[in-house]
Amino acid sequence: MQLHSNCVGGYYPRTDNKVKRGEVPKGMVAWSEPFKDYKPTSYTAPSILAGPSYADPVIGSPGFKPAWNALDGKVNRASHEGTYMIVDGCPRNPHGRTGVVGRGSLGRWGPNHAADPVVTRWKTLNGTKAVDDKTGNPVLQFVCIQRRDCGAWAIPGGMVDPGERVSVTLQREFQEEALNSLEMTPQQKKHTEQQLNNLFRGGEEVYKGYVDDPRNTDNAWMETVAYNFHEDNPDGILHGIKLHAGDDAQAVRWQDINGQMNLYATHRDIIQKVAARLGAHW
Ligand code: BGC
Repeated sequence: MQLHSNCVGGYYPRTDNKVKRGEVPKGMVAWSEPFKDYKPTSYTAPSILAGPSYADPVIGSPGFKPAWNALDGKVNRASHEGTYMIVDGCPRNPHGRTGVVGRGSLGRWGPNHAADPVVTRWKTLNGTKAVDDKTGNPVLQFVCIQRRDCGAWAIPGGMVDPGERVSVTLQREFQEEALNSLEMTPQQKKHTEQQLNNLFRGGEEVYKGYVDDPRNTDNAWMETVAYNFHEDNPDGILHGIKLHAGDDAQAVRWQDINGQMNLYATHRDIIQKVAARLGAHW
């Protein structure tokens, strides 16, 4: 199993450098390595302890009897990667130590499920497909947003709401973050949805599993399902649609895909898979 690196060392994100992760020396990330002196920092963000609707209660709270590794009512506590362990009553991160116990800024104990829509089109120049000079391969573009929480460029993904089908999350998040559907009139929203429905019906899964996300802790971590929605037709709706950042996104753009891109968490790996799938320049 590949061990994580984005959630080890340094400070926990968005804590003004006040919450330092406990030391996890190189080679000690795997739980299988004995590490007697492991002293993880305990941290759950005040916003999570305040109990918003998307967050679990504290473990041990009266009435909180989570069904780990299963669909627990509407909350999916099953991991895409198989069975995770429960140690001292808490789920344990399957990809190793992070130096933090508690949930950090994640709402759920165990897996926190997201979905990532990779919406792609071919780059065109004067109406024909643009080809990279060096590789001779056509250049692909994807809809890329800038996250409001950390300023990094990313796929316009988001959390799967309890009971929501992943296919619904994928289109909803795209519409909210890349088209600002939250500020559309009901008519505009309906029209946009109708335009996109065909494209979103034809997606291909490109990744499903753990995400090496900077917010992960020993007891709470991100997982995602990423789909590629590709429009091959140079006269299709993706060449006319107007991008407009909304919700958790502060900017949006068509990003030329290549190996030099620097993206949030493991989004670069996801995009690389999409480029390979479509025979595009990387
Ligand atoms: C994002 C997804 C991302 C996931 C894991 C979520 O906050 O919206 O795009 O894949 O975190 O990093």
